[in-house]
Amino acid sequence: NNTYREIPVYVHVIYDQDSLDQNISNEQIASQIAVINEDFRALNSDTANVPAEFKNLVTDYRLTFRLEGISRKASTVTAWNTNDEMKSSSSGGVDAITPETHLNIWVVPLVGDILGYAQFPGGDYATDGIVVSPYYFGSSDYDNNNDFYLGAPFDKGRTTTHEIGHYLNLFHIWGDGGCSVDDEVEDTPIAGSSNVGCPSYPSKSCSENTTSTSDMFMNYMDYVDDDCMNMFTEGQKLRSQALFETGGFRENL
Ligand code: ARG
Ligand code: ZN
Ligand code: CA
Repeated sequence: NNTYREIPVYVHVIYDQDSLDQNISNEQIASQIAVINEDFRALNSDTANVPAEFKNLVTDYRLTFRLEGISRKASTVTAWNTNDEMKSSSSGGVDAITPETHLNIWVVPLVGDILGYAQFPGGDYATDGIVVSPYYFGSSDYDNNNDFYLGAPFDKGRTTTHEIGHYLNLFHIWGDGGCSVDDEVEDTPIAGSSNVGCPSYPSKSCSENTTSTSDMFMNYMDYVDDDCMNMFTEGQKLRSQALFETGGFRENL
């Protein structure tokens, strides 16, 4: 099942302010698609920053993303909660379009400056997909006209990479628990909690980790700054690939 796959994507932009910070440009959307097309093929130039001990684990997920359509909707909601209301027209949002075969991404301002959130595979298809704030959707690296209103240090498009990781069944790399809790991926070392900012290497949180000198804080499924995360592992890809097998939740994607 290690085949190349092209995933069609719908982006739903819902804005309260009809200006480029929320009703983001097609260029900003394209910049985000460009980032995930690099990250899920390990074509991102910052794989060069992966420490030697993890280099052989860097994986090409063999996924590409094709922008199929953009919808835009004005709303009076200034900040959405993480309760999926943006995913249904009956609650003021926009319905998912054929989520069995398409990745739906809602770009909406979120309460409390939340970057984004995802639904894991196995949930209701009506709410399947990911949600990302317009302030963290896209990359300043592609901002040629200087009109992307992205918030550093989460301005390189990695929130969407991270949320698609969840959408593809990946847990946070520290397993959302202490050193006794695993992320159910064999080749990611045990970590005690999330890493933030840009830790200096090596940085190790658990003595239970006997396989590496450091947490794999540069994994997309940690919480570090966008320009400090740069890899998925082979084990993470194997976990995601089960979704694409016959009978898998994302078989028709
Ligand atoms: N907090 C969010 C989540 O757990 C997103 C974290 C994204 N991190 C980043 N460096 N962009 O899903
Ligand atoms: Zn997460
Ligand atoms: Ca692990």
